[in-house]
Amino acid sequence: MHHMEKQINILAVSGSLRLTSINTTILKELAALAPAHVGFSFYEALDALPHFNPDIDNEPVASVTQWRQAVAHADGVVFCTPEYAFGIPGAFKNALDWLVSSGELNEKPVATISASPLPSGADKAHAALLHTMKALGTTIPSNGSVTIPAVKVKFSEEGQLQHDATKHELQHLLNSLITAIHEKQAAQIL
Ligand SMILES: Cc1cc2nc3c(=O)[nH]c(=O)nc-3n(C[C@H](O)[C@H](O)[C@H](O)COP(=O)(O)O)c2cc1C
Repeated sequence: MHHMEKQINILAVSGSLRLTSINTTILKELAALAPAHVGFSFYEALDALPHFNPDIDNEPVASVTQWRQAVAHADGVVFCTPEYAFGIPGAFKNALDWLVSSGELNEKPVATISASPLPSGADKAHAALLHTMKALGTTIPSNGSVTIPAVKVKFSEEGQLQHDATKHELQHLLNSLITAIHEKQAAQIL
């Protein structure tokens, strides 16, 4: 028997600015796996943020306020990032730097995904992302992190995920994130 579950909102953020980004496609795939009470919204304005500078950290910059509010209003966040030169893309790191002092990710349930056409699955970028997630105080559940190697062959030309093992990993990641969100909400009621 299923009881009525409270609607929850997950914010999806791709580390890639590319229009046909495989990382963005993975997040769309993840959203399609979500149960009815879980809504996804996509933050797609990493390139609207100015370069982070502590001197303007407290200035009222509209794009920064929108980014911080999108994270603050989400019950959980999922990141999916490519690897550029063994790190996360600069535009993505820049967005994370804007959250350091304001703290919107502190104690936020978060899941992390990296993907690459290479066999490494962007594991160095993923490791860097996890360091930053730790610095920001996020809560990452077990099964909440997935690296996807050889990603190109796992999607069809039309952008459909056609690799069952990856689909299962994404489903587990999503379930873990949703459980972490429910656990946090239950703890707040007590
Ligand atoms: C400037 C640049 C640097 C890259 N460096 C790496 C790298 O260090 N490791 C890696 O696995 N792939 C690297 N790649 C390849 C990306 O994984 C590949 O372009 C991927 O499709 C980007 O993700 P997206 O499709 O979501 O944009 C690099 C690509 C670019 C454009």
